Amino acid sequence: MEETKKRDQFGSRIGFILAAAGSAIGLGNIWKFPYITGENGGSAFIIVYLIAIALVGFPVMLSEFLIGRKAQKDAVNSFKTLAPGKPWYFTGYMGVVAAFMILSFYGVVAGWTITYTWEAVSGSLLSMDASQYPDHFVELISSPLKPILYQILFMVLTIAIVLGGVKKGIEKWSKILMPLLLVLLLIVVARSVTLEGASAGIEFLLKPDFSALTATSFLVALGHAFFSLSLGMGTMITYGSYLSKKENLPMAAVNVSIADTAIALLAGFAIFPAVFAFGMEAGGGPGLLFMTLPAVFQQLPLGTFFATIFFALVVIAALTSAISILEVPVAFFTEKFKWSRAKATWFLGIVITLVGMVASLSYGPWGGFTIGGKVFFDQLDFVASYILLPLGGFFIALFVAWGMKRKEAFEAAGYEEKSSFGSFWIFTLKFIAPILIIIVFLNSIGII
Ligand code: PHE
Repeated sequence: MEETKKRDQFGSRIGFILAAAGSAIGLGNIWKFPYITGENGGSAFIIVYLIAIALVGFPVMLSEFLIGRKAQKDAVNSFKTLAPGKPWYFTGYMGVVAAFMILSFYGVVAGWTITYTWEAVSGSLLSMDASQYPDHFVELISSPLKPILYQILFMVLTIAIVLGGVKKGIEKWSKILMPLLLVLLLIVVARSVTLEGASAGIEFLLKPDFSALTATSFLVALGHAFFSLSLGMGTMITYGSYLSKKENLPMAAVNVSIADTAIALLAGFAIFPAVFAFGMEAGGGPGLLFMTLPAVFQQLPLGTFFATIFFALVVIAALTSAISILEVPVAFFTEKFKWSRAKATWFLGIVITLVGMVASLSYGPWGGFTIGGKVFFDQLDFVASYILLPLGGFFIALFVAWGMKRKEAFEAAGYEEKSSFGSFWIFTLKFIAPILIIIVFLNSIGII
């Protein structure tokens, strides 16, 4: 019987770190981070981002790990176990809803990256005229059928891994895919930084120009730190719940935060030196990956090879994130309704894919249908990434800092009673993180 079965756990420390890093490292790092860095002036923005990771990202990640590990339950029931009869568990429900919404559109974008990988291998991507890339991209995302087929393919891969469970699915595949991702990325970085004219791009990433920063840059950096570290929706609570009591949580949170940031920076070094070397626009926005980069690869010797590994690595990054997103509702459904893993994974995977199809169609034939002035895809992204995630992070910080006793929180995190790191961590959770999160939140909903 399901209920009497022992709860699945990560088999090794490195397996857990790679799975959590795999969750964090995704489209956020390779697609979004470079383009927002490009739009916000480069290195000065990176410095602000690093501060956001340290002051808000790391403290909240440690909080999620400890909530999950202490309760040994899914995102909702963890709060119910640690604070019985109190309303904190709403945070978990928000997370389950956010996971649902995020995976719907994430699967669509991941589908685009599979399409690009395929077009790169087959040679069609690099054989077109560079001026056609913007139209090519728009044509892809607005066609009725093609993006959906690739989205389904991506979702089937995600479902297949999650069906395997924590140790034999998530952990096993993270251990294979994450090193592969790093190797592929390093190959592209090595190529990019050794191009003639690469130095302008390197300078763009390393020489701070603070005049390029605006008030919005701070908000963008903080909002992105959240999304990139997979925080605010219980992913790290869920992964933390598969950990044994032995694990050193602060160290794990440091490792995952550093890995995530390092990969984002490497993605910057893969992209900008090449973009500058070929005289392209650094501030190309969301189209940087899909419209600017193909034109860069086109001019590169062995372009087909580099384009293929680059887009393949984006698919891999997206896949290890998608499994962590699907695991949030799967863990909840198996625990709450006592469903088998197979039933929960198939059911949720299929429903999320169906919602994602609507999102995909909203960039094409169903574009006329808007909610609050946004097409369905953009509205899903907005509500989940800009409302549910920050609110989730806000309540998680408050829960550990104010809802738990100091001694209990220290013990659960593994800090000695007098640890000064521990004290600083609680201080950031009590004041700095919630205040900064609320500012970002009010800004996203247009109040400030
Ligand atoms: N962190 C992932 C990325 O950068 C996205 C993600 C968000 C994953 C929230 C899980 C939870 O792409």
